[in-house]
Amino acid sequence: MKTVRSTIFNTGLMALILTACSQPSGTGKDSLIEKQVEELLGKMTLPEKIGQMNQLSPFGSMDEIAGQVRQGEIGSLLNVTDPEKVNEIQKVAVEESRLGIPLLISRDVIHGYKTIFPIPLGQAATFNPQIVEDGARVAAIEASADGIRWTFAPMIDISRDPRWGRIAESCGEDPYLSSIMGVAMVKGFQGDSLNDPTSIAACAKHFIGYGAAEGGRDYNSTFIPERQMRNVYFPPFEAAAKAGCATFMTSFNDNDGVPSTGNTFILKDVLRNEWKYDGMVVTDWASTAEMISHGFCKDEKEAALKSVNAGIDMEMVSGTFIRHLEELVKDGEISEATINNAVRNILRLKFRLGLFDNPYVNTDQHVKYAPEHLAKAKEAAEQSVILLKNNRKTLPFTDKIRTIAVVGPLADAPHDQMGTWVFDGEKAHTQTVLTALKEMYGDKVQFIYEPGLGYSRDKNTGNISKAVSAATRADVVLVCVGEESILSGEAHSLADLHLQGAQNELIAALAKTGKPLVTVIMAGRPLTIEQEVNLSDAVLYAFHPGTMGGPAIADLLFGKVAPSGKTPVTFPKMVGQIPVYYAHNNTGRPASRQETLIDAIPLEAGQTSLGCTSFYMDAGFDPLFPFGYGLSYTTFGYDNLQLANDKLAANGTLEISFDLTNTGKYDGTEVVQLYVQDTFGSVTRPVKELKGFQRVPLKQGEKKTVTFSLPVEELAFWNIDMQKVVEPGEFNLWVGPSSAEGLQTTFTVE
Ligand code: BGC
Repeated sequence: MKTVRSTIFNTGLMALILTACSQPSGTGKDSLIEKQVEELLGKMTLPEKIGQMNQLSPFGSMDEIAGQVRQGEIGSLLNVTDPEKVNEIQKVAVEESRLGIPLLISRDVIHGYKTIFPIPLGQAATFNPQIVEDGARVAAIEASADGIRWTFAPMIDISRDPRWGRIAESCGEDPYLSSIMGVAMVKGFQGDSLNDPTSIAACAKHFIGYGAAEGGRDYNSTFIPERQMRNVYFPPFEAAAKAGCATFMTSFNDNDGVPSTGNTFILKDVLRNEWKYDGMVVTDWASTAEMISHGFCKDEKEAALKSVNAGIDMEMVSGTFIRHLEELVKDGEISEATINNAVRNILRLKFRLGLFDNPYVNTDQHVKYAPEHLAKAKEAAEQSVILLKNNRKTLPFTDKIRTIAVVGPLADAPHDQMGTWVFDGEKAHTQTVLTALKEMYGDKVQFIYEPGLGYSRDKNTGNISKAVSAATRADVVLVCVGEESILSGEAHSLADLHLQGAQNELIAALAKTGKPLVTVIMAGRPLTIEQEVNLSDAVLYAFHPGTMGGPAIADLLFGKVAPSGKTPVTFPKMVGQIPVYYAHNNTGRPASRQETLIDAIPLEAGQTSLGCTSFYMDAGFDPLFPFGYGLSYTTFGYDNLQLANDKLAANGTLEISFDLTNTGKYDGTEVVQLYVQDTFGSVTRPVKELKGFQRVPLKQGEKKTVTFSLPVEELAFWNIDMQKVVEPGEFNLWVGPSSAEGLQTTFTVE
C-alpha cells in the first residue's frame, strides 16, 4: 500500500499561495525598479501622468491614434493583436513621445489564445491546478508571441447563479476552489518572472461581487453584506493578490448602492491597506462613465473624480480621465500625490514586464497551435468532462459496438465547442467529436452522422426522423447537445435553463428507439437537464471543451481515459431552486428530505399537516447534482478515516488519513474532497466548506492511504465582531467523493 501526499494542494491554501509568492512574479518591491519609477515620474508633466492612466481600444488604423501616443496621452491599448501593428505603435511611443514610455498591450486571453482550452468553469471541473496553470502558460506563450503582455484573467467571481452567462468564465461557486484555480492561472500567465518575454500580466477580476448579480441578470446590482463579502467573495481575490497577480479590475455592479469603480472601501481599505497590494487597478470597460447611468455621479467629471479618489489607477476606454483630471487637480479636488501613486503603479508594472528594455515583439515566432499546446488542451479537456450517469455500464464503448449513430447539433460544431470569450481561436483548428471519432476510431467502428437539428436553438423538427432512422441502424446512439457558445458569456443571461430549441424532443425521440443512448452535453453553465438525464443511459457533461474537445471526448467514450471531472458548481433541478449551493447556512428548520412532495399531497390537507421545513414542494430540497459530484468507469471505496489528533490548539495542524481503493474494473483517478463544518459560532456557519482536494490516480484493485494536513488557521472566518478568527469548539469533518457523501468524524479546537 502506498501513501500519497500532493505537494501542491493538500497542504492548504496558504502553502499554495506562499509557493506562488516565492516566485518573483510581480509583487515585492524591487529597489532598482522603485528608483527608476521615481526618476521617470519626476520628469513627467501632469498631462503626461494622466496620459499613462488612459487605456484605449483603437477601432481604426494605428495612424488614427499615433498622434495621441506621440503626445503621451495613452498608457495602454487593448485589442491590438497584429504583432506588426504592435511594433509600429510601440515605436511611436518609444521613439517619438517626449519620454519614450512604452505602451502596455492587452487583450482578453481567457481560456487560451489560439489553442483554446475548456472554458474556465470546465477547467475548474478538473480539480487540477497544475493543468489549469499549464493552460494559462500555453495561453501566455501564444499571446505574447503577438505582442500581448497583459490579459484580463483570471475571472474569480464566485458564481452561484447559472442564469448568469458569465458563470462560464468563472471557477464556480466555491471560494476555496476558486482561490486555488485563480492562483494557478496567475502563475501560468505570469510564469516565473514577469520580465520573461513569454509572461503576461494577469488581472484578478471583477472586484467585487459581480457574480452575485440579482436574478443572474448581467450587470445587475448586488447586495452582499460585509461578512459574506469577506467570507465568500474576497478570498479568491486575496489569494490572487498574495500570489503576485499584477493587476486587479473593478466590477460593473453596484454593491449596496456603491459601484465598484467608485468604492473606496474595497479599493483602499481592503486591497491597499489590509492586503498591502502594490499592483495596478484598472476599471472595467467604460465603468467610470457608467457610474453616471448608475445614478452615482452626475456627470463625467464627477465620475473621474470618484474613480481616482476611490483608488483607480487606469481607466478602460471611458476617456473621462484624459478629459477631466487636469482640471480636477487644478481645482484641488484630486491631489497630485494621488495621481503620482496611480502612475507609480502603472510604471512599476511596465518596468516589471521589462518593456523599457525591450518593448518590441519578435514577429518570427511559430508557437500557435504547437503540438505540445494541443496535447495539453486535450488533457485539460479530458479531465474537465464529468460523467453524470452511466447505467448498465453503457460506457465505455466495448469492442462489441460496430456502428454508432452520431446525432445532435453539437457533434460537429467547431465554433461552438470553443465556448465564450474566444476572440482569437479559429474554428478551422477545432477538432470536433465527429471528426475525432472518425479519425481515431473510424477503422474499427462505423459512424452514421445525422445531426437531427442544425444548431442548439433550432426548433425545426423536420430532420429528427432522419436521426431516429440512423439510431435504429446503430448499436448505440451518441447525441451531442447543449448550448451554442453565444448563449453564455457577458450579457448572455438566461431565465430558462432547459436545453434550447427542439433538443429535448430530439433526445426523447432517440430514447424511444430503445437503443442505448449516450448524451454528451456541451454548455457554458449547468443546465436543468433532469428529463434528459432520465432518458439517457449515460451522460457526459463537457462544458465547452475547446479546440481539442473532440479527441478528448472520443478517448473518454472508448475508455482510453476514464472520466475524472467533478461538478465545480451545483446543478439545479429547476431554475426556481437558484441560488442553490452546497455551502449554505442552516435554517432553524432544515429539510428532512422526507417531505411530502406536490403530487402526493392529499386533497384539502391541513395547513400544517406537511410539517414546517425548508424545501420546495415541487423540487424538494436537493439539487440534481451536488457540488463535487462525478462518476468514473471504475468505483472507489473510502474507509479507515483517522485523525492523528482530534483535539487541537489554535496553532495546530490537523493530520487526516484514510484509505482509498479502486474497487472497479478500470484504472481511474478520483478527486477526493475534504469538507469541514464549524458546528456553531458567533454567527451561523455553512453546513460544509471545502478545505482540500486531491486527484488520486489508482490502478484497478489498487489501494492507497491518502493524507491531508489542515492548519487550524484555515478554519478562521469573519465573526460577529468582524474579526477573522478561529472560534474554539466542535467541528465535523468529511472526506468523500462529493459534497453530499463521505466518511465523517469530528474534532475539537481548544
Ligand atoms: C468585461 C471584462 C473585459 C473587458 C475588456 C468587459 O466588458 O466585463 O471582463 O476584460 O470588457 O474586454
